[in-house]
Amino acid sequence: MSQVLRDARRYEEEKEQFIRPDDRPAFHLSARVGWMNDPNGFSFYQGCYHMFYQYHPYDSHWGPMHWGHAVSKDMIHWNYLPAALAPDSPYDRDGCFSGSAITMPDGSQLLMYTGIIYEQDERGDTRQVQTQNIAVGDGTDYVKYQGNPVLTEDDLPEGGSPYAFRDPKIWREEDGTYKAVVANEHIGQGGRMVIFSSEDGFSWHFDSVMLENHYRIGCMWECPDYFELEGKQILIGSAQDMLPKGLEYHNGNGTFYMTGTYDSKSKQFIEEANYSLDYGIDFYAPQTILTPDGRRVMIGWMQNWDTCNLHVASTPWFGQMSLPRELSIKDGRLIQKPIREFDALRTNMVVHDDVRIFHDEISLEGVQGRLIDMEIELFPDPEVPLFQKFAVRFAKNDEYHTAVSFRPHEGILKIDRKFSGSRRAIIHQRRARINHDKGRLKLRIILDRFSVEVFVNDGEKVLSATIFTDQSAQGVTFHAQGSVILRVTKYDIEG
Ligand code: FRU
Repeated sequence: MSQVLRDARRYEEEKEQFIRPDDRPAFHLSARVGWMNDPNGFSFYQGCYHMFYQYHPYDSHWGPMHWGHAVSKDMIHWNYLPAALAPDSPYDRDGCFSGSAITMPDGSQLLMYTGIIYEQDERGDTRQVQTQNIAVGDGTDYVKYQGNPVLTEDDLPEGGSPYAFRDPKIWREEDGTYKAVVANEHIGQGGRMVIFSSEDGFSWHFDSVMLENHYRIGCMWECPDYFELEGKQILIGSAQDMLPKGLEYHNGNGTFYMTGTYDSKSKQFIEEANYSLDYGIDFYAPQTILTPDGRRVMIGWMQNWDTCNLHVASTPWFGQMSLPRELSIKDGRLIQKPIREFDALRTNMVVHDDVRIFHDEISLEGVQGRLIDMEIELFPDPEVPLFQKFAVRFAKNDEYHTAVSFRPHEGILKIDRKFSGSRRAIIHQRRARINHDKGRLKLRIILDRFSVEVFVNDGEKVLSATIFTDQSAQGVTFHAQGSVILRVTKYDIEG
């Protein structure tokens, strides 16, 4: 083991003791110490789920990337393992970027990841050279492959930038060979997804350009994932530097998924439709796995690149993952639901049925808290004209609240965390277009100490956002302009 990895392991073990469990999310995976971004190597190996992540243990800001590591039986309660990878080799000395994992026929686990090194170009500007690399291990310790890097600039198709070539997602084909989809900038064309193949998982060559962006969705693409779901091919990606498109895509970095088919002759992905994966403020770089019982589950980094470096340096940890979400397809679109394992954490059910609100803001007995799972079914009052607005406000006290509001006439659902305690002039609101039947709506709102995830109409849309509101803000209220009828079912969550 290199000194760089040994140092990281010692550091995280020492420093983690200074973080109280109550100062972390209760049921979302957060950085063991320091900084976390993308999920990496999300996999099921030797009877456990493994989650690796982009990790800078020494600081709560992004820096030379390591791979942090945690394992879980249910994808909710995670135990940290020692850091898995450190930037300690000539081809990754400045960072081990994102990648994926697969179990090999001999029972070992293979990690495929991007190594970066900084180089000066002829003008003296710094460039990040990105190559693909392999490490093999036993679920705790990983040894980098002597033949690294396994894919370099020389393997790229025409026009490919060696400075934007990253985030391999590996899978095994039915015939036992391997494929990986890697994001690459096609100079002057934006991002593209490129497929490479291998007989043995170690020796790789170019296969095809699966799909080009041509600047339709942002510029460079990152973090591809590709799988079959209910007879459709699904391609997931994260786009940098987007311009907004209606309420579908927002400014900055965001995620997308495409439904389509794979044409084995042209070796291209034939896209049918594309949509955002999350309509909130904080969600990026997701990865999926197929669980042993056949579910496709996705976890993303619950942050936003444009706002994630605004915290003070003394913050002991920064960065958390979303809840794991089970994926399915309905009417050609992805449906996302919190994994069913999460339901086992629900306790203290409180139900309020047939609650009528008329131009008022009310609270309901037993409905408050910061570790809660709350289902709200909204019905319009049949006796009077359709209401103008409904809002639920949570993480609330006299000073703070975060709100989800719905205006049925506009068909818009909005998340607003302006009053969540942020002192920064950043985006605090986002809106999504919602299908509804004359004002009927279902929301499932899951609150952890530092986040909210809103699942709309049984997972048709999801809005995720981090909130750093003081934990004393425990209140929940319901507000209507007009007349609404509610059924509210609220559970506490045992973290
Ligand atoms: C996405 C990303 C990846 C890269 C990693 C670096 O969030 O930019 O493309 O591998 O983060 O930490």
